[in-house]
Amino acid sequence: MSRFRSVVAGVGSYLPKNVLTNAALSKMVDTSDEWIRQRTGIHQRHIAAEGENTSDLGTIAAQRALQAAGMEAGEMDMLVVATATPDLTFPATATIIQKNIGMVRGFAFDVNAVCSGFLFALATADSFIARGQAKNALVIGAETFSRILDWEDRSTCVLFGDGAGAIVLSGEPGAPGMGERGVVHSYLRSDGRFTELLYVDGGPSSTKTVGHLRMSGNQVFRHAITNISSSIAKVLDDTGLTISDVDWFVPHQANQRILEGVSRRLGIPEERVITTVSQHGNTSAGSIPLALDAGVQDGRVKEGDLVLMEALGGGFTWGAALVRM
Ligand code: ACO
Repeated sequence: MSRFRSVVAGVGSYLPKNVLTNAALSKMVDTSDEWIRQRTGIHQRHIAAEGENTSDLGTIAAQRALQAAGMEAGEMDMLVVATATPDLTFPATATIIQKNIGMVRGFAFDVNAVCSGFLFALATADSFIARGQAKNALVIGAETFSRILDWEDRSTCVLFGDGAGAIVLSGEPGAPGMGERGVVHSYLRSDGRFTELLYVDGGPSSTKTVGHLRMSGNQVFRHAITNISSSIAKVLDDTGLTISDVDWFVPHQANQRILEGVSRRLGIPEERVITTVSQHGNTSAGSIPLALDAGVQDGRVKEGDLVLMEALGGGFTWGAALVRM
C-alpha cells in the first residue's frame, strides 16, 4: 500500500476579543496579579463573548489556516476538532464547523483528550492521510474553558482562557523521512487511574449538567513534568534525533513553571521554546496550534524547521509529536 506523509500546508488561529487581566480577575476572586504571575507566568487571558461558542472560535481559526494554505474548504476530506468544551453534547462541534466553512464533503468528528487533544487529533488525521484515506485534513483545537470554570475557585479560574488554532495537513507521496516536510512521528499515552486529579464534575450521563473543572494542582504539576519529559524522550529516541536537532519547542501552554521544569530537565534552551501562556493562559486543546501560529506569524518558525510539540491533560492523557514544517 502506498504511504503518504502529512505536510503542514497552513496554520491559523483565533482569540476572542475580550481580555481578562489578572488585575480584573483579582476584583472577582481573592487573588493578585503578583501571585498569578509568580506561580503561573500568566498575565491575561481571552474570554469568549456571550453567545460566542467553541465552533465560532474554531471556524475562524480554520478559515485562517485554509487561507494560509491557499486552499478551499471544498478540498478538505476530513476535519477533526479537539475539544473538551463542545457547543452541544451532540452533534460534534466538528460538524458545526464543517457547515460553517462550507465543507460539504468528507467527514468530521471530535476527539476529547482535553489539553492533549490537539496531539491526539493530529495523530489521528496523520494516520488517515498516511493510509491514503484522506488527502487533505483540517485539524483544529478549540475551547471555551471559561464556560466550565468555577469562577469562585481561585485555584483554577485564574489558569485558563478561551481560543482556537488550526492546521491544514496535506498528503504528499512517500513515508516521512528526517529531512522531508511532514509529521515525522508522534507518541500518545493515557492512564485513567488519575481521573480525580483533573476532571469536570458533571456530564450528560452522570449528573445531566455541564459541571465545573476540579483540579489538584500540585499533583497535576508533578505528573506533567514527569510524563511530558518521558514522551519527549520517547519521540526523540524512536527517531534517533536529539534535543539539538529540534528547531522549536511548541509545548502545551499550561503554566510557565511546567515549561521551565521540562526545559531544565531535558536541557532545552529557553530561546527555542515558543511561549504564549503569559498572554493566553491555558487554552487546553487550542494552545499548541495557537502557539505554533504565533511562531509562524512572527517569522520564527519557518518551512523546513523541526518542531516538537508536547502536552498533558485530564485523564491523564499525554504525548509528543515531531513535525518538519
Ligand atoms: N491566588 C492566591 N492564592 C492562591 C490562588 C490564587 N489564584 N490559588 C491558590 N492559592 C493559595 C492556596 O490556597 C494556598 O494557600 P495556603 O497555603 O494558605 O493553603 C497557596 O496559594 C498555595 O497553593 P498551592 O496549590 O500549593 O500552589 P502551587 O504552588 O502548587 O500553585 C498551581 C498552584 C499554579 C495551580 C500549580 O499547582 C500548577 O500550576 N499546577 C499545574 C496545574 C495545571 O497547569 N493544570 C492545567 C491543566 S493540566 C495541564 O494543562 C498540564
